[in-house]
Amino acid sequence: MKRRDFLALTALGSVSCLSPRFAVAKTLASAGPSDFDFVFFTDTHIQQELDAAKGCAMCFEKLSGHGADFAIQGGDHVFDALGVPVERSESLYDLYAQTEKRLGMPVHHVIGNHDVVGAYSKSGLAVTDPRQGKRTYVSRIGKTYYSWDHKGYHFIVLDSIQLTDDRNWQAGIDPAQLEWLSNDLKSIPNGMPVIVAVHCPITTGALAYSLHDMSKPPKYQQAFVNNACDVIPILTQHNVLVVLQGHIHINETVLYKGIPFVTCGAVSGDWWRGSHWETPEGYTVVSLRGGKATWRYETYGFKTISPRND
Ligand SMILES: [Fe+2]
Repeated sequence: MKRRDFLALTALGSVSCLSPRFAVAKTLASAGPSDFDFVFFTDTHIQQELDAAKGCAMCFEKLSGHGADFAIQGGDHVFDALGVPVERSESLYDLYAQTEKRLGMPVHHVIGNHDVVGAYSKSGLAVTDPRQGKRTYVSRIGKTYYSWDHKGYHFIVLDSIQLTDDRNWQAGIDPAQLEWLSNDLKSIPNGMPVIVAVHCPITTGALAYSLHDMSKPPKYQQAFVNNACDVIPILTQHNVLVVLQGHIHINETVLYKGIPFVTCGAVSGDWWRGSHWETPEGYTVVSLRGGKATWRYETYGFKTISPRND
């Protein structure tokens, strides 16, 4: 069954905004998948400073009490590994791994830009070093894009971080990954509900909310995936319930061609300095019921010790 057939069976459910919670429902008029919850938590940006590890521990303690089947970490596990000495990056990876044990549930991971070790020249790390780039992430955490099934739903994790030859990065989905994504979705049963997780948004209105000078486009697009026009036509051929996104540290939903692209608030809020654009520190609980996805944002009570505007 093609997506257009499913669209005939689906109806957009209620949209509500109950700050700080919100929910959007997209219904599927068929039985089959089992019911369960999972948690999408993103942008932990763990570090030894600013009570970040304490904050992550607080978050994980509350998060583990929801009875979720598993969690997805949406990227930016560590405060920053791009431009710091490798010893610092390794200490942050160690701290994250130690802290994540508190979750006590399976965790699927998404790579974020700040998880890339020594990408910037200022890190002092040679590109030939076995720890440089995505190698540390792969060796410590695993593949950067992959998929799995759970109780009748298909989950896909994408890698939105593309390294450039001049030791920088841009947000995008490379051709090999696009081909993999297309083939992966073709391999699942027609109409199977799909959830996608990615760090840099496929689509977002974030630039419209900020004060960036739009007359001077950056050399590399680092706010959102620069080739969404290649990704979205693949997703719209299938029953994608929701695309969960990180990176921006705000709550926002862009509904495009029937797919909710949901950017989620960060565990670290404003990088451990309070709320970011009035989005507090938190995570997103996703409930799957009979082929329908709803989600809500949960805070966990972290109080920064160093507000950005102090
Ligand atoms: Fe981040």
